[in-house]
Order: sequence, then structure tokens, then C-alpha cells
Amino acid sequence: MSQFFDDTEAVRVEGIRAALGAETIDALDTAFRAYLKGKSSRAGELKQRIKHELDRAAAGRALDEATKALEAAFAERRAQLETAVQAASLVRDRVDLTLPGRDYRRGHLHPVTRIWRELEDVFVGLGYKVAEGPEVELDWYNFEALNFPPGHPARAMQDTLYVRLGEPEQVLLRTHTSPVQVRVMEAQQPPIYIVAPGRVFRRDTLDARHSPVFHQIEGLAVDEGITLGDLLGTIEAFVHALFGPSIASRFLPSFFPFTEPSVEFAMTCVFCEGAGCGVCSKTGWVELGGAGMVDPNVFAAVGIDAERYTGFAFGFGIDRLVQLLYGVDHVKNLWDGDVRFLRQF
Ligand code: FA5
Repeated sequence: MSQFFDDTEAVRVEGIRAALGAETIDALDTAFRAYLKGKSSRAGELKQRIKHELDRAAAGRALDEATKALEAAFAERRAQLETAVQAASLVRDRVDLTLPGRDYRRGHLHPVTRIWRELEDVFVGLGYKVAEGPEVELDWYNFEALNFPPGHPARAMQDTLYVRLGEPEQVLLRTHTSPVQVRVMEAQQPPIYIVAPGRVFRRDTLDARHSPVFHQIEGLAVDEGITLGDLLGTIEAFVHALFGPSIASRFLPSFFPFTEPSVEFAMTCVFCEGAGCGVCSKTGWVELGGAGMVDPNVFAAVGIDAERYTGFAFGFGIDRLVQLLYGVDHVKNLWDGDVRFLRQF
């Protein structure tokens, strides 16, 4: 027997050991190249030696047999390693469908936005339409057409913020939503039933119930035969819709240049239900806003026949209403943007 057969047997034994000992597919590939692949592999070198053997047929058979055994060993080990890799990836990438979902908090509308929309719903339910006006307004709409002539002391009461635009003191941040009344009445003839919620601005110093930027909702009804009784009934209907039937409303004489007669309306304090507490200064009532019958001078300014039509208007603070509804002691809490506060609503 020539050395060839011993060498072939050695390659077979060592190659199988190398294949079965490979721990990874990369290591298996390296061993495969060393033993089986190409002319310079161990099997390739043996193949080139066959032509020098006396019994070439026997040498060829021996090498063929060894090569087949090696190939089988490599194939078997590859299958084992691939199965292991797959099993490991199944464990690694496993998705546990029984785990609870990741918690995320849904946002919600700001309480002022929510009450704003609720108010719109209440009045739309009573047959009103929603109207809008600009936040930067002309003196004509904010004051003059509303019967505040230049120099009228009631203008000073609203601590107006003027804008440097156009004629001096003619362009301003609206101080109330009442200018929307004028815009609507200029644009259409009665019957008119509108509400106009919106943002308003005054040079007010921040305190528990006053903010320089706040929100009001205006109401206006102009038709034939509208009386003060309709105004009182409408306010009562809205207070009941929002706070329930146990909450009453009351009216006190007041003054606004654009309504005659004018009233201030209040509702039963929701905190003490009328018994008297800190919130209502022991009166049992909290003031909501102003109202009254549209002054004939306003009708004259917008070209509505005051002999034929009468109307009422009202306006109140939405922020203040929200404070009452939710027991918010300081209005600044509503606008600080602190989510720990806002999350409560
Ligand atoms: C007016 O603004 C009138 N335009 C209301 C009106 C409309 C009367 C139609 C007649 C007819 P007054 O200035 O009182 O009125 O404000 C109305 C309400 O706005 C107040 O009752 C209060 O609820 C709210 N309010 C006023 N100033 C502030 C402020 N700085 N911060 C928060 N709310 C305010």
C-alpha cells in the first residue's frame, strides 16, 4: 500500500472531525475550503497525486469514497448548524403577544374649548347660528357703532389695547365680542339669531378672575316682538342646559351703552348651591355677564328699523364659566400650559 492511501484516510478522518467540530457556519466554511474546495484543498492535492500512483483506479476509488464521506459530514453539520441558528433567532425575535400594550395617554380638548363648543351646541339647539368676527378690530365696530361715542367714559373702563396701524386709536384688539353683533346686523336684516364665541383682549392686570386675554360668547336675537322676557327665558334655558334645573339665574339693573335697559346676570353659586360661600362672597350668586335690549342707536348705526324690530343681546366670559364649572380658583391655571393641571379635566 502506498502512502497515498494513508494520506487519504488521514484527510478523511481529520476532515470529518473538523466538520463535526465546527461551532459556526463560518468555521464550517473555512474547514470546507481547507479540505474539499479547489486544487489547493487537502482533497484537491490528493487528486493531483493520483496520476503518480501505480494502481490509479484503486487510488481514485479511495479518494472518491473519502470525498463522499467528507461531503456527507459537512452537509450534516451544516444542517445542524442552520437549525441551531434558526432556533436561536426564533428565541431572540420572539414576540410575546400576551404582553400588555404600551401605555400612551390620549390628549383631550382644553376645558375652555370644550365649554366653548358645548355653548355653541346649546344655542344651535335653540335655533341660533354661530358667527365670527376678527380679533383685530376697528373702533367703529368695537365702540362707535355700539353707541360708545369718542370720549365716552365706558371706553376707558375696557382698558383698550390699540394697534399701531392706520389712524391713531382706530385699530385695536377687540375688548369684547359685541362688535360681531354690529358686523352681523350690517350684513343682514332680521330675523337674526346668532352666537359669537371668541377671544378678546384687555389691559387687565392678572388676578384670580381676570386675564388680559380671555374668551366671551356673545348672543344676539333681533326680530319682531322680542322682549326682555325672551332674554330672561333664553338665559335661564342656557343655565339649565349647562348646570341643571336646580341652578337659577337672576338679573340686576346695569349699564351698557349699546343696550337699554341693561342687566347684569348671575346664576346660583354652584359651590354652595345658593347658601353663600367664599367663591360667591357669601351672596349665593356669581356674576356671569351683561345683557339687555339692543339700543335704538345701535339699530340706527347699522340701518335696522327700530320701529319694526326689537332685539336682545348678551355676553359673558367663557373662562369664568369654566372656572365655575370645574372649581378652578385662579384663571392663570387655565393658561399656564401645565399638563398636570389640564389632565384633570
Ligand atoms: C361686556 O364685555 C359686554 N360686551 C357684555 C354685553 C354683551 C352686555 C351684550 C350687553 C349686551 P363686561 O365687560 O362686563 O361686558 O364683560 C362680560 C364678562 O366677561 C364678565 O362678566 C366676565 O365674565 C368676563 N370678563 C371680563 N373681563 C374679564 C377678564 N379680564 N378675564 C376674564 N373674564 C373677563
